Amino acid sequence: MKKRIAIFASGSGSNAQKIMEHFKKSNEAEVALILTNNPYAYVLQRADNFEVPSHIFDKKEFYETNKILALLNNLNIDLVVLAGFLWLVPLNLLKAYPNKIINIHPSLLPKYGGKGMYGERVHEAVLANKETESGITIHFVNENFDDGEIIHQSKFRVDKGDDLEMMKFKVQQLEHTHFPKVIEGLLKKMKSI
Ligand code: GRF
Repeated sequence: MKKRIAIFASGSGSNAQKIMEHFKKSNEAEVALILTNNPYAYVLQRADNFEVPSHIFDKKEFYETNKILALLNNLNIDLVVLAGFLWLVPLNLLKAYPNKIINIHPSLLPKYGGKGMYGERVHEAVLANKETESGITIHFVNENFDDGEIIHQSKFRVDKGDDLEMMKFKVQQLEHTHFPKVIEGLLKKMKSI
């Protein structure tokens, strides 16, 4: 049976798109569900385009019920992927999916991570500190922001003239190249829950 992936995303979902594209051709795994807390997120359109079902939830449902857990269980989800999802994951999910929830972060953690460090703020801080390199981190998720065990990092060079747009571009190139492959590698190593 194919391994089944659920993706949480709150915004555009370009990473979700690359993951759906990657696994559309796969005999090993498939994206079974997209989840979002944002009813206006473009990721919902992308899910529709790939005919992947989606679910919209609010804070109360996420933190005060077991509905999301039941949904993931019912769909036999093997791996949960956070791709541009900003809320901490509640304990009921962390306990049910140990080392089976991963996140992507647009910096070389532990640098430029933690609460409030997301999106453009990360790149602005990297530029302000005149870093000569930055990159991406894919890591397991725990109860803290950007804190779990690191699975993969890729770097790029920050050149003198690089501005915010260039940083976003360089990060996105790396994310789109590596995230689907890292997910595939993890699934290969993983037994079904
Ligand atoms: C990515 O940069 C990711 O590292 C961060 O959120 C962004 C999501 O972008 N966690 P997109 O919605 O996949 O385009």
